[in-house]
Formats: sequence, structure tokens, C-alpha cells
Amino acid sequence: MSGAVGAATPVRRLPYGLLQRLAAYIDPQDGWRRLAADIVGPSGESRYTQLHIRRLEAFVRMGKSPTCELLYDWGTTNCTVGELVELLVRNQFLAAASLLLPEAVKEAQEVTLPLSSQETLPIHEKHLPIQEKEVASVKPSLPENTEEQPSTASYLSQENNSSQSSNTDFHNFWFHDLESITNNFDARPESAGGNKLGEGGFGVVFKGYINGRNVAVKKLAAMVDISAQDLKQQFDQEIEMMAKCQHENLVELLGFSSDGAQPCLVYEYMPNGSLLDRLACLDDTPPISWDMRCKIAQGTANGINFLHDNNHIHRDIKSANILLTDTYVPKISDFGLARASVTFTQTIMTDRVVGTAAYMAPEALRGEITPKSDIFSFGVVLLEIITGLPPVDENREPQLLLSIKDEIEDEEVTIEDYVDVKMHDWDATSVHKMYSIADQCLNEKKNRRPNSKMVQQHLQEIKA
Ligand SMILES: Nc1ncnc2c1ncn2[C@@H]1O[C@H](COP(=O)(O)OP(=O)(O)OP(=O)(O)O)[C@@H](O)[C@H]1O
Ligand SMILES: [Mg+2]
Repeated sequence: MSGAVGAATPVRRLPYGLLQRLAAYIDPQDGWRRLAADIVGPSGESRYTQLHIRRLEAFVRMGKSPTCELLYDWGTTNCTVGELVELLVRNQFLAAASLLLPEAVKEAQEVTLPLSSQETLPIHEKHLPIQEKEVASVKPSLPENTEEQPSTASYLSQENNSSQSSNTDFHNFWFHDLESITNNFDARPESAGGNKLGEGGFGVVFKGYINGRNVAVKKLAAMVDISAQDLKQQFDQEIEMMAKCQHENLVELLGFSSDGAQPCLVYEYMPNGSLLDRLACLDDTPPISWDMRCKIAQGTANGINFLHDNNHIHRDIKSANILLTDTYVPKISDFGLARASVTFTQTIMTDRVVGTAAYMAPEALRGEITPKSDIFSFGVVLLEIITGLPPVDENREPQLLLSIKDEIEDEEVTIEDYVDVKMHDWDATSVHKMYSIADQCLNEKKNRRPNSKMVQQHLQEIKA
């Protein structure tokens, strides 16, 4: 394209280089989600549904820019640069908007922004939604006394005391020790003699063995452009806080490492893997009974309630983050990681997607952060527990599991039609009770959802 960009220029005609420069401002902190949520169709309704958002997430995983993909798509509606700039200004992406129409942005700033312009903030703070900053400043009021908690010292082959946190039994591992216990981060699956347990949005998880105990080592995704010192400081702060969260339904964080090429988290090993995989009977594992599923639901609710009681929002509740011990006790993993990732998003995990769309509450999709979004996500997990179905399936109608709520509301089917055929000990009364809790958790309006204490209590009433 030749010539200057003006308000009337169609977005679809913007040169690729310019789109990429825009994306550099918007991709971090998942800014594209806010834009997508704010774009409306011809009759005023949201143009992008949860399914669209999920497709955009897929681009993130492919290493592509979700903002560029979003703009390509929106560009097909013949929208103009003027409209794009309005959208960017509305969502506080002023620097990005300035790339397109600097004058228009100056005017908008004079009219709408007080002196404390975002432009003076360091980039990684700039795009944080207000709520995020508030949440990030809340320290959990967790018990300081950790005397009775198991010490991890005995699992260490070597201890790096230089930056040991002061009031937890939580350890700072040398990266090279983690290398040696994971066979140099052997990324082949266990079945092929390797150490890889799985992979998620933050990085790859490896099985390791330290002093007679298995552990899971999560090697976080590659980082760019951050000094080791900055990283360490941010990482230590957030991780120390996560380490204080100790509860029987939370996966224990044993330690971390930040002296190597990539930061690592060391967790207790959970032999039965994730609830997602066990509900799908991956690797031919036996189906989980209804009785056990009720206990898993109750334990998970206890873990969420503990987090919320301590002012901690998980932000990534899903069955892949509910791990199971040898006796199928559920433990929530990755609490704090979504939040920690926000601290260093701009630097380490620019493409990290917080939360998976199939589990996300409407307000979470818009970037709002509230404990009630965890409750919504847990509602989806309860549906998975009842039905044994994955939260999303491209080849299914409806694709999103949470849509069965609408079918049931419209009386097309009942929840009994959806009960997992792989279990045989269920009864209609308790299934209906669990579904009723899921239904309340999945209320579109966050204020109408129960809080974690209520969910916990209702689940306990299902089966004594
Ligand atoms: N402590 C653990 N013990 C045993 N297996 C684990 C442990 N932590 C993770 N895993 C395995 O590794 C897989 C990937 O975990 P990871 O947390 O990286 O991804 P995820 O949970 O799918 O997504 P997210 O990045 O959003 O948490 C899990 O599904 C689980 O099978
Ligand atoms: Mg996880």
C-alpha cells in the first residue's frame, strides 16, 4: 500500500509491518481479548463469540499474533482506521493508536484523559486493567506459621541458600540439578523412555526424581529481553507467595529455580495426572466412579474456597489443572501462575493466554478479574464431571460443553441424558443436585453466582 494512512483508510489495507507494530502493543497482556470483546456487529451485538476467541487462542499457540488475526478478520467488514483508532483509544491503547493517527489520539487524550496519562507508565504496566493492579497488590493473609508443614530440605541434592525465602520451607534449586534429575529435560514422553509429563500454556512439565521422591518440574516458556536480576526479583516475589498457599487440595509447590536459562517450578508429583485425562480415560485408565467424582468435586471446591478465603483468584480453573493423587484426592495446580505471569508477561510469556476460553466467564473474557470467574469455570468442571465430556469438541454439537445448559433450560434434554455412560453407580437425585450447582455457577451474571463457600456447602450436601 502506498500513501499515508488516514481515518478513512480501510483496516484491511494496512501494511503488514504496521499491523505487526500495532500487535506488539496489543498482544501482551492479552489486549486482543479486550478489543475482541469491544467489537460489535451491524446490529450492535458482540461480533466475537467464545468460539471465535478460542480460534484466536489457537493462533497464539501456533506462534502467530492474535491481534493481527483479529484485525484481518475485522478488516473483512470494511471497517476503517478511524474506527480502529476509536476502539484503541477506548481501550487505552494510546501508543498503538498513535501509530495510526497521532493527531486524533492527542485530541482524544485532551478530552478524555486526566494528567496521569498511561504513557508515563512502563510498558509492562500500561495495559493492565485497573482490577488487575488492585488484585496484584493484595497479599494473601495466609498463616505465617509453617512449622508443621513438611520440609523439602531432604529432597534437595544441593541447596542454594543465597535467596532462600525467609518464612517458608520452600527451596531454591540450582537449574543444573533440575537438569540432572530430569535427564536433561528429556522431552520424549514417558512411554518412550523420556521424562515429559505434559505441556501447557506456561511451558513443559517433566518428571524428576530427588532423594527417593518423584517431583514434577515445570520449565517455563522461553523468555526474551529481561535481565536475570529483574526476572529473579519478580519471580521470587510471586513464587514465594504461591508457596505460602498450602492446603490438602492444592498441589504443593516444593521450590523453584531462577538461575538457569529458564525459570522452573518444582511441584509434588501427582501419580494419577489430570482430571481431564482421567475423565477421558487416556492411556486406558479405568473410568472414575460417581462416588469418587462427588469426592473430587468436593475436594476441588475446598481448594478454591481456600484460595478465595485468602484473596487469591486462580484464573485458570479447568480439569487439566485439577491433578489427582494415587488415591484420587484432587489437588488444584497452577494457582498463582496466571497472576505471576501477568507480572512478567511482557517479558517472558508474551503469548500466554490466561484461562481457556471454554471455561471463561463473560466478564473474564472482557479482562475483568474477579473470584466469581473461578466459580464460573468450576461450573464447567462440574459439567465435565457429570458428563465425562471434554469442555470443547470441534466435532460435537454443541461444541462448547457449557452450551448444554441452554439445551437443558429449553427442555430439549435433561441432564440425565448427558450422564457419562462410563459410570454405573450414579443416581438421579445426586446428579440433579450437582447439576443444579453447576447451573448456578454458570450464571452469566457474576453477582448471581454463588460464592465458593456456598458451592462448598452445597456440594457437601450431595452425598454425606
Ligand atoms: N505435579 C504434577 N504431577 C503430575 N503431572 C503433572 C503435574 N503438573 C502437570 N502435570 C501434567 O502435565 C500436563 C501439563 O500441565 P500444564 O500445567 O503445563 O498444562 P495445562 O494444565 O494443560 O495448562 P495450563 O498451562 O493452563 O496450566 C498436565 O495436564 C498433567 O498431565
Ligand atoms: Mg496446568
